[in-house]
Amino acid sequence: MPVFDRRYTANCRIYNMLAAAPRHLSFHTPGHKEGKWDITELSFSDNLADPTGVLKEAQADVAQILGAARSFLLTDGSTCGVLSMLYAAKPEKLVFSAAAHKSVYNACRLLGIEQVVLDVVYRGGIPQQPSLGAIASALQNAGTGAGKGAVAVLLTSPDYYGNVAGFAAVRRICDEYGAMLLCDGAHGGHLHGTPLHAGVWCDLWVDGVHKSLPAFTQGAVVSAKTEPLGERLAAAADVFRTTSPSYPILASVEYAVKYPRNLRLEREAERFKRRFRAYANADWTKIVLSYGKNAPQVADMLEKEGIYPEFCDGENILFYLSPAQPLRQVKSLEKALLPFEGLRASGQNEAPMPAYWAGERTGKTEWVPLKDALGRTCARDAGLFPPCLPVVRAGQRIEEAHIQKLSGAKGVYGMENGRIAVYI
Ligand SMILES: Cc1ncc(COP(=O)(O)O)c(C=O)c1O
Repeated sequence: MPVFDRRYTANCRIYNMLAAAPRHLSFHTPGHKEGKWDITELSFSDNLADPTGVLKEAQADVAQILGAARSFLLTDGSTCGVLSMLYAAKPEKLVFSAAAHKSVYNACRLLGIEQVVLDVVYRGGIPQQPSLGAIASALQNAGTGAGKGAVAVLLTSPDYYGNVAGFAAVRRICDEYGAMLLCDGAHGGHLHGTPLHAGVWCDLWVDGVHKSLPAFTQGAVVSAKTEPLGERLAAAADVFRTTSPSYPILASVEYAVKYPRNLRLEREAERFKRRFRAYANADWTKIVLSYGKNAPQVADMLEKEGIYPEFCDGENILFYLSPAQPLRQVKSLEKALLPFEGLRASGQNEAPMPAYWAGERTGKTEWVPLKDALGRTCARDAGLFPPCLPVVRAGQRIEEAHIQKLSGAKGVYGMENGRIAVYI
């Protein structure tokens, strides 16, 4: 398994269990019959649904590192973490930024949670964290307190662009209103041990370790700060987790959480950001360079040189690092980017994406070509993939800016063959 660097596996319980697993004749799943690393629940490999052995110990280690009462290893991505977290919290209303991942919207729909969506302010095409004033007034309007339904605030921190929430202040506001604080930290597993980590401040949170730490794709963790929330989270994870978790992914999640910080790389990333006047975020793993309308062209040229960024959102290109990134690759990126300096955008501010709420009209919908959708009411959230944030949401009037953003994108979600769902 190439992800694992043997220098750091000594205290990785799941990895060591798999490394010591006997070669055997497999008359068990999975069907490829390799019978060594990718195994199922056997006498020595424990059972994630009711762990009593190596998985129990690994989860306890991970909880301790993340500052949780209980943590649950996930092989179904942060999506499963968001669903489990909201199932465990079960608020009547959830306050969150419109720039939340689609899993947050889906969880609300699935669990019947009322959405209190905060408008997003963009700077240079980049969605910003919601302001404290917006959160406080949403909580005030939501009517928290005795005899009222539970309200929770969900932050996305860090977000895809490396913006980190002002946790301390939001925590104070939540305490004032008696609201739970949750965090979708799909991009923040590497921040544990620092005050930027959700685990310092939140009641429930997700760490998506496969994005910013060296775990296999889909590796994530969901955690609860205290009991009895931990117990509720256990029941929730049991609903949303697969019953066939991948042992290589589980091993990689434990390994990734235990992976040491790479301070040399962190310093190099900050130097790189200064040199290229990158977007000023607080997360060293996300380097965002703005090229304005030249961004798609620059991304294409980089690909021709064998450099694949995480995404280009039409204006900005995101280069995503992790502590396992070899330093020399950052140097190669630096060299490759120099010829494109003339194509950089000058940082200008941008008005928020229009978000005129038309409201749902009828239950009937149709798919129309995006170019013909101006002025129609969107019937299904649609956005860029990645970063999986909605550009236009169900119930909103479709504006020219939405059409431009979606039609220029390489990857989208919520659309089919260039068509968008609208209410009739
Ligand atoms: C903010 C955020 N939350 C949740 C997710 C879902 O993560 P996963 O793809 O691991 O399910 C993503 C994925 O891009 C994300 O960006």
